[in-house]
Amino acid sequence: MSHIGSEILQAKSILEAGKAVAIPTETVYGLAANAMDADAVAQIFAIKKRPTFDPLIVHTYSLEALKSFVLEIPEAASLLANAFWPGPLTLLLPKKPIIPDLVTSGLERVAVRIPNHPLTLRLLQSLDFPLAAPSANPFGYISPTTAQHVADQLGEDIEYILDGGAASIGVESTIVGWENGIATVLRVGGLSIDAIEKVIGPVQVQSVSSSNPAAPGMLKSHYAPRIPMRAGNITELIKEFSGKKIAVLSFQQAYPTADINYILSESGNLNQAAQRLFAAMRELDNTDAEIILTEFVPAIGLGLAINDRLKRACAEE
Ligand code: TXA
Ligand code: MG
Repeated sequence: MSHIGSEILQAKSILEAGKAVAIPTETVYGLAANAMDADAVAQIFAIKKRPTFDPLIVHTYSLEALKSFVLEIPEAASLLANAFWPGPLTLLLPKKPIIPDLVTSGLERVAVRIPNHPLTLRLLQSLDFPLAAPSANPFGYISPTTAQHVADQLGEDIEYILDGGAASIGVESTIVGWENGIATVLRVGGLSIDAIEKVIGPVQVQSVSSSNPAAPGMLKSHYAPRIPMRAGNITELIKEFSGKKIAVLSFQQAYPTADINYILSESGNLNQAAQRLFAAMRELDNTDAEIILTEFVPAIGLGLAINDRLKRACAEE
């Protein structure tokens, strides 16, 4: 069983020995290993049962440290980095050969991010290598937002979980790359598109595709609970599924005819809803409900990321 604690030195020594450690970030927990060491990175894929065509994000603590493994930081990337790092933003930048191909699944660009979590920033500063880290969940399942979530599923496979409390943002980082020079959001996430556009002007948002190898993170079915989930008008859905044990994951209000209710934010606060979303999905997935019914939230701010995760949670494989 893994140990849960907040000892940076312990995390550091395990990472320096070439092994994986779970780390807190403001978005979700990551499963981290030395990004410069292909054998260490291979363990991440093995533990997550993640296909190697799905590349990893490399985490570092400063723009200076980043320059040791990316070839260049274009002007627009640098504007975003200065505005939002440390924070829930991942940038796709041309990689130096020092980053093993396994990290990027052979792609020319590496995904990079400076996370905004005090424990993890201190850990990164103490290491002389950056950390490759996907979300610390089995491939395809809901991302973890607490140390206990990580322990529940990967506890047998990792030695140490660095506990930094519940993730404050709760959905993964927003990924931005440049396609033919046009800033493109490849995954909507914890940094809103409005915020990005205020800094670099209009961006394009890549449409969802299950067969686009340039954006493997956009797999159609992802973040999915084991209990089937359906999104739409909850009142109508409750009628459709009458006779089944129903759990409802709603935005603001309870539905008295459902067997189980989980409300994301009674006050209708999208940031609060995002912060609670994955914990809510896990909690409902651990009930004996036969179906989880949910609804989309307003498509503004973090609502876009919430709706994206809900859609993928409902998608058939
Ligand atoms: O908030 C986050 O981004 C969290 C925390 C731990 O930092 N990490 C995370 O990692 O969500 P992961 O592996 O679950 O999702 C990263 C996504 C993947 O879907 C992957 O396909 C995409 O980023 N990605 C990584 N490197 C890429 C690359 N070089 N080109 C295109 N997509 C890339
Ligand atoms: Mg993930």
